[in-house]
Amino acid sequence: MKKNIFRRGPSSAALTPRSPGALSPSKALDAWLKRTRALLEKSLRTAVPAATTKPGTIHRAMRYSLLAGGKRLRPLLCCAASEACAGTARAALPAACAVEMIHAYSLIHDDLPCMDNDDLRRGKPTSHKMFGEGIAVLAGDALLTEAFAVLAAAKPLARYNASDLVAELALAAGSRGLIAGQVADLAAEGRKPSEPALYFIHAAKTGMLLRASLKLGAMSAGGIKTQVAALDRFGFALGLAFQIQDDILDATQSAKKLGKTAGKDAAAGKMTFPALFGLEKSRLLAGQWTSEAIDSLKTFGPRGATLRHLAVRLLQRDS
Ligand code: IPE
Ligand code: IPE
Ligand code: MG
Ligand code: MG
Ligand code: MG
Repeated sequence: MKKNIFRRGPSSAALTPRSPGALSPSKALDAWLKRTRALLEKSLRTAVPAATTKPGTIHRAMRYSLLAGGKRLRPLLCCAASEACAGTARAALPAACAVEMIHAYSLIHDDLPCMDNDDLRRGKPTSHKMFGEGIAVLAGDALLTEAFAVLAAAKPLARYNASDLVAELALAAGSRGLIAGQVADLAAEGRKPSEPALYFIHAAKTGMLLRASLKLGAMSAGGIKTQVAALDRFGFALGLAFQIQDDILDATQSAKKLGKTAGKDAAAGKMTFPALFGLEKSRLLAGQWTSEAIDSLKTFGPRGATLRHLAVRLLQRDS
């Protein structure tokens, strides 16, 4: 029988949030982040048409959301996965840009009045506040579409074709992946939280794109099956930890810190980890899922260090 991964529990080995012990983030991670972010920002600027390309409004709107900052977590994971498989960050750039474009589109649509109705994103007015709803919808559509053009130009090493990468991203972003999670998120609004529903929402709306980011990085480097599978497990667990943390931050941080409206989940009756488990248990679960994620990296030995440290750093984030 096929294992239902959405119902799998976290490992019991707890990694206490804010005290990652022996795995405390190193200066090496800071240097890696600085270097890799610079590479990514440069690539992202050329991944979409210039603001002067006609029609100007849509390209300005696409660039406004794509180049607005943010943690760049998904493309960073993509690059780190390539390196874990003995490839380079550079080899993963088409995939890294594509996953960030999908992410940017998903945020534009997530913020629309018909979805989460948010006015603030990454410390700036949301796309529909800046450009109006029509252009915001279209900017999301365009980023989604252009992401696949960027990925189709990838030249993965050995074993994989660009079409394998395109198929992987389509599955993760589509109606059985991220979209399925967003559908469940909307349907759950105002409902009594249930553990299976909550795990499904988080694993799908957030986890699927994180998993794809890691797998595409591995595939870009010609990673072998067992490496891709290990990164998939890492992404599943990290996706849960990351979205649990997102729920916690929504309930505990200020809008100034987050760059997005705070306290909106409770106001909208969203099904979140704090709503079901309370803050303390949610923090514990985020730590446990991070620990589970780190366990999946054993096969990479020292090459998994960046991903390990990134996972710990994410648990300590406050925005
Ligand atoms: C926000 O993602 C949406 C979620 C899936 C939680 P991020 O927290 O990665 O947002 P940015 O890219 O850093 O702005
Ligand atoms: C968004 O989840 C997930 C996607 C965009 C797919 P949230 O609705 O919790 O994200 P924020 O809090 O608005 O960033
Ligand atoms: Mg949402
Ligand atoms: Mg939202
Ligand atoms: Mg949120």
